[in-house]
Amino acid sequence: MDFKSYIREINDFPVPGISFKDITTLLQNGAVYKEAINEMARRLKEVEIDCIAGPEARGFVIGAPLAYALGVGFIPIRKSGKLPGETIEADYALEYGKDKLAMHKDAIKLGQKVLIADDLLATGGTIATSINLIEQLGGEVVGATFLIELLELRGRDKLGSIDIISLVTY
Ligand code: PRP
Repeated sequence: MDFKSYIREINDFPVPGISFKDITTLLQNGAVYKEAINEMARRLKEVEIDCIAGPEARGFVIGAPLAYALGVGFIPIRKSGKLPGETIEADYALEYGKDKLAMHKDAIKLGQKVLIADDLLATGGTIATSINLIEQLGGEVVGATFLIELLELRGRDKLGSIDIISLVTY
């Protein structure tokens, strides 16, 4: 399926010079959204996964249905101050801005194989930080999957040797 044709590009959002890839136009089409998740699930068929972790907020929109489709648990990676239990946190830089990500200390059991899911791989800062947090908790990141990868920003160079699946590239 031509997923790209369902993604809207909005220029100069959120700051001048950024061409924002708006996935809301894909998500609002039930058949296309379902097929995107199913396509990811198919490509991951051979990968051993114990759970999926997704960064707030758009990572939830991809990670949670993918976890449901694969029959594994979902672990939220949240912005600082949102999780109620004991957490670990790490600073990260975004394509435009800066923030802190957090995970519950007991979210992952030692040696669990974790797949990261998100809507977009841009600079790779979010996912590099997610990998850092997951590894601190004793998890093994076996791969990462995205709806979109912005090749020019070379985010995958920050992610080491993990397998990366992207449905659409720009
Ligand atoms: C966006 C996007 C990815 C991240 C990609 O999230 O959903 O998580 O940026 O950028 P990077 O590869 O340069 O780190 P954002 O932090 O804007 O949060 P949101 O999902 O809550 O909108």
